Order: sequence, then C-alpha cells, then structure tokens
Amino acid sequence: MNSDLIQYIQEAKVSGMSDGEIQAELLSVGWNHGDVRQAFLDNISPELENPPIEQSEKIEAVVSVRGLIKHYGSVRAVDGIDFEIPKGSILALLGPNGAGKTTLVRMLGTLITPDSGQALIGGHDVIKSPDDVRKIIGLTGQFSAVDMVLTGRENLVMIGRLCHLSKLEAENRARELLIRFGLSDAADRQVKTYSGGMMRRLDVAASIIAHPEVLFLDEPTTGLDPHGRIELWHIIKELVAKDVTVLLTTQYLDEADHLADQIVVIDKGKIIAKGTSQELKAQVGGDVLELHLTDHSQAHRAAAAIEALGIEKPRIEELEAHIFMPVRGGASVLADAIRRLDQARIDLADIVLRRPTLDDVFLKLTGHVAG
Ligand SMILES: Nc1ncnc2c1ncn2[C@@H]1O[C@H](COP(=O)(O)OP(=O)(O)OP(=O)(O)O)[C@@H](O)[C@H]1O
Ligand SMILES: [Mg+2]
Repeated sequence: MNSDLIQYIQEAKVSGMSDGEIQAELLSVGWNHGDVRQAFLDNISPELENPPIEQSEKIEAVVSVRGLIKHYGSVRAVDGIDFEIPKGSILALLGPNGAGKTTLVRMLGTLITPDSGQALIGGHDVIKSPDDVRKIIGLTGQFSAVDMVLTGRENLVMIGRLCHLSKLEAENRARELLIRFGLSDAADRQVKTYSGGMMRRLDVAASIIAHPEVLFLDEPTTGLDPHGRIELWHIIKELVAKDVTVLLTTQYLDEADHLADQIVVIDKGKIIAKGTSQELKAQVGGDVLELHLTDHSQAHRAAAAIEALGIEKPRIEELEAHIFMPVRGGASVLADAIRRLDQARIDLADIVLRRPTLDDVFLKLTGHVAG
C-alpha cells in the first residue's frame, strides 16, 4: 500500500475534490494508473469511507449511498459503494455483466435489504423506512414486470390503482402515458403481442405512473432500436427537467455519455471510477491513434512500428485488424505514425487521431471492453 498516495487522496477528498478530479490530477503528475486504482480500491481509512450522512447532505442530495454491501453466499455482489445524486440530475451506473448494478438498484428500491451501509432516498432510510421510500420512487427492473395477459392500458390502470390513484385518475394517467410512449395504437392489445421494445416502453411508463420524485431504471434501453433509445432518452430528460432524480444502469457508454451528469463505473461490486464524462475521458491522458489495416497479419509489425509514439502500449484487435493507442502530441504524432508505417511497408486502410471515448476509459480501467 502506498501511504503517500493514500494520504494525498484523503486530503484531496477532505478538500472537496471528486474521485474523478483526484484521479485525473494524480495521473497528470505521473502516478502510475495501477497504483492509483489500487489506492482507491484499498481505500483509505474507514472513517473517511463511511462517515455518517450529515443532515445538510440529505437536503442537497436526494439519493445518498454510503458503504453499501450485499453478499450472496461468498459473492460480494456489492462491495462498499458510495455516491450521491443531487435533485434533478442523472447518475449513470456503468459496469459489465455481474458488476453488481441490479443488486444495487434492488437495494435502493427496497426489494432486497443491504447487509451493511446506509442509503437515504429523499431523506428516508431504505432499511429503517422502506414504506416511506416506496412512496417517492419508481423502479423499472432489468426484466419486464408487466402482466402479459393484460393489455397495455389494463396494466397501467392496474398499477395506477395499486399506487392509490382513483379509477378516473388511473385511466387518465394511463391514456396520457400511452400517448407519450407511442403505445396508443397497441393500447388495447394483450402485452404478449408486443415487441420487446414496446414492452420496455410500457415498463418505463408503469414506473412513472405515480409521478415519482426518484426514478431507478435498470438497463432501460437494452433491446430498444436506435430510434426507441433516443425517444426514451428524451422522456428521461423531460422528467429530469421537472426535477425528477434519476439513477440508471447501462452497459452502453454512449448512453452514459449522452445522459448522465455523473458516471459511476463499477466492476466486481466496487467503484473503479467516478466523475463526469469529461473527467473520466481525461484519465486516458491524451488522444487515441486508431489504425485500420488492410491485412490483419501485419498487425503486430504495425504495432511495433508505432509503439514508441504512445503513452501506453498499442492494443491490437487482430480479427478486425484494428490497432488503438493513447498518444500525446496532436497532429505531429499522426504525421510521424504515417511515416513509420510507410517505412515498415504496412498497408493502411485508415488512420485517425481522435478524442478518447468512454470505451477507451472503460478499457483502461477494467482491462476489457464494455458490453
Ligand atoms: N439472487 C442471487 N443469488 C446469488 N447470486 C446472485 C444473485 N443475484 C446476483 N447474484 C450475483 O451477484 C453478482 C452481481 O449481480 P448483478 O445482477 O447485480 O450484476 P449486474 O451488474 O446487474 O449484471 P448484468 O449486467 O448482467 O445485469 C453476480 O456475481 C451475480 O451472479
Ligand atoms: Mg443487471
């Protein structure tokens, strides 16, 4: 354990810097990425990790999560997660399969009880006051929860009634949501005849029937076509503009990039990075040089030819004959790379220098590509 690094992180946290800002600063002054990541994982003194949630934070943050842990047998599905979501903002929880996203959402939605830690939703504790939490949240689970035998309209009216709306209110709200979610034409058909995308839209509609203050969406756009995804993004943004606070999980980096005010990246139950999209991209430390070769058997020779220009080793995707490498130095690096590849007689289909994407961040943090 590197005590200088840990001391620096503790002081920076006390001074109010976000994890993303601290990580970006440490990397920019030359700390090795692996050490920084380990220092965050080993983390730090227990008092700093799980300080009691202050009254002032309850007002500021609509969702406050501290040191949340959930085991399934020997699996630590969620292993000490902390974050806060200010009112009327979106936090995207990003992580690969099995990272712990659904387990976390189910704890915040009071469907399962945490083993330890604390989570406050609108000031209500999920363990001590689950009924108060349920009154102010909506939840769309990862898998459809609507009744296949009922029609779309009947599902929404039934859920409205369960949320204590009068019959008339439930019918009006169902009509309004069916229009907003583009389901009017299918409203009186049994849900088992719906496409996957229609069912997903009905699920989300059901979760906002009672005008929740806080909305949890577990992979809301998985299975939607590009048009359906963009339409749902609009709906989520409209809700946030009306001060709804949203936590969504996703495996799509572009979704997090497009929607989220804050992104929390988790892997194996732990947070491995936190920050805005810009802060996370700054961790890649420069631009990305991307090559496409016409002949994939040349990939290793091409990587060797450009390796000296990178701030990290090139990554080869052999089957597609793609090479990616983080670089610093702008357009001069591009000219240099082309010269070296030409000297090594590599046949290039394409070469670009681009800003890092969240895919690059994810790969750097986890060692594997997202999704
Ligand atoms: N009911 C359960 N019983 C036992 N293990 C479970 C249970 N639910 C989840 N797990 C385990 O906990 C870990 C986290 O699972 P979780 O479903 O929260 O991940 P996820 O990030 O939502 O993954 P995905 O992207 O595939 O939905 C996994 O190792 C999973 O196998
Ligand atoms: Mg899941």
